Amino acid sequence: MELQLSSAVTFFLQNVTVRSFLIFLAVFCLTADYVKKRLPRNFPPRPFCLPLLGNILQMDFSQPHAGMQKFIDRYGNIFCLQLGNILFVVLNGFELVKEALVHQGEAFAGRPVIPLFYDSFKEFGLVQSNGHTWKQQRRFALSTLRNFGLGKKSLEERIQEEIRYLIDAIEEEKGQPFDPHYKINISVSNIICSITFGDRFEYHDSQFQELLKLFDESLRLEISLASQLYNAFPNILRYLPGAHKKVFSNWKKVKCFLRKMIAKHREDWNPSEPRDFIDSYLTEIEKFAGDADSSFNEDNLLQSTLDLFVAGTETTSTTLRWALLYMVIKPEVQEQVQAEIDRVIGVSRQPLTADRTDMPYTNAVIHEIQRISNIIPLNVPRVTVCNTTLAGFDLPKGTFVFPNLTSVLFDKKEWETPHEFNPQHFLEKDQFRKRDAFLPFSTGKRVCLGEQLAKTELFLFFTALLQKFKFQALKNKKPSLQARVGVTLSPLPYQICAVPRY
Ligand code: HEM
Ligand SMILES: *[C@@H]1O[C@H](CO)[C@@H](O)[C@H](O)[C@H]1NC(C)=O
Ligand SMILES: *[C@@H]1O[C@H](CO)[C@@H](O)[C@H](O)[C@H]1NC(C)=O
Ligand SMILES: *[C@@H]1O[C@H](CO)[C@@H](O)[C@H](O)[C@H]1NC(C)=O
Repeated sequence: MELQLSSAVTFFLQNVTVRSFLIFLAVFCLTADYVKKRLPRNFPPRPFCLPLLGNILQMDFSQPHAGMQKFIDRYGNIFCLQLGNILFVVLNGFELVKEALVHQGEAFAGRPVIPLFYDSFKEFGLVQSNGHTWKQQRRFALSTLRNFGLGKKSLEERIQEEIRYLIDAIEEEKGQPFDPHYKINISVSNIICSITFGDRFEYHDSQFQELLKLFDESLRLEISLASQLYNAFPNILRYLPGAHKKVFSNWKKVKCFLRKMIAKHREDWNPSEPRDFIDSYLTEIEKFAGDADSSFNEDNLLQSTLDLFVAGTETTSTTLRWALLYMVIKPEVQEQVQAEIDRVIGVSRQPLTADRTDMPYTNAVIHEIQRISNIIPLNVPRVTVCNTTLAGFDLPKGTFVFPNLTSVLFDKKEWETPHEFNPQHFLEKDQFRKRDAFLPFSTGKRVCLGEQLAKTELFLFFTALLQKFKFQALKNKKPSLQARVGVTLSPLPYQICAVPRY
């Protein structure tokens, strides 16, 4: 009898409890998940979502910026999506994006904490920082970039010098097919080097190539599955191996390189003659030493420098690669740009920023390239910094927001032919026409800090390259306009010929 009982207990413990315990655990987890994922009151609608995963299965990760049209049709311009533990609101269309980012600029001026970025960079620098630190760092970086009469060379001269090296490097190809990717991104990186370190690197400098490789690899790994999972479930992934670990170790190496650069600057620093961004920053640290309110310190210096690289290199270089691609695919547009270059600049001098006002067609073409290539399709995420309401919904402080730039740059209400490459979008009676919905740099308090620099670079590179070369597709091989999804939307690798024009 006793034996029977104890074996029954054993049986029970071994089978029934284990099973019912598992059922209990599952019910508990799902309920906890359900409670945790309950939407705040009067929140934008969320499509039906699965426990734990949320809307992950409804997302098309090969085109994360698209594929939501069915939700827009059902719910309108504002709705929310659940990716694992992360809930975010998507804003669609020029009117709504402007309402949030401009009219309610203060409320939407925050950057959310994203685990992968936070664990790499904390909240230092320009891109990830918030509040007082962000305001101080941004103001300083903007004014330093603006009065870049730093040292002996103006910013424009630095860019022009770099363009001459690029032209020499392209001439070496002798009109034969080549992929311009490598040369363009070295050239564009060098401009940020010149601004931050005071000097450019040779194309074949091994330290420089190592640095670029680390950047490139980290950016690529940041969009890997492991990294996405890390963002959704950081407390589990932290203990597992994977691409996210490599991201951390790469950024550590990059920071080590920058720390050495800063130390070198300290050695031969002369406050009365700042050579570059780092020198100016060292002066700022000195000026505010002892001020408890100051965020000027070596951590923020290092991160601001890194941010200028990360935000300023891939973006500009990708846009230039789209530009050459469109010129090859639209030879009639290329010819018209070259006719304007020949008329306004001629062949004997390098283009200047001041030429832009006399070149409405070229200016319109550059704008149209930026519009249609849409390189940052969902913008950089924002977070609300206080309770607010938008389009009749309540968004509490701390709500993640994606202002969908694709929906602005292709808004049917704003553009005559949204899906067509059409420089006329920016022309009126042969004069350049500004468009409010031209927001590739976003808008509002956190609008791209490098907008002016990027526009100057794009104009000077584009005109100087088209002045020197005629860009052509290979025979019988039209390159594709399909975009590759990465940190930016970029062209697939392509080969072109750069035939000297004279
Ligand atoms: C074609 C080139 C570029 C494009 C399309 C672009 C686009 C953008 C976008 C969409 C944002 C997010 C703005 C927001 O949150 O609303 C941004 C932020 C930023 N960009 Fe750019 N950018 C470009 C070039 C540059 C360059 C050359 C620099 C460097 C000087 C730069 C530095 C920054 C920084 C520091 C931020 C963060 C600003 C903040 O959080 O306050 N960008 N950019
Ligand atoms: C962003 O806008 C585009 C164009 O309107 C749309 O096709 C896409 O589904 C939108 N993405 C999201 C996440 O709402
Ligand atoms: C630079 O160019 C090389 C090209 O060949 C490419 O592999 C890399 O992704 C590019 N990007 C950066 C940031 O170096
Ligand atoms: C923000 O809203 C929440 C409820 O959604 C409320 O508990 C909180 O007190 C509000 N905060 C402020 C500063 O009004």
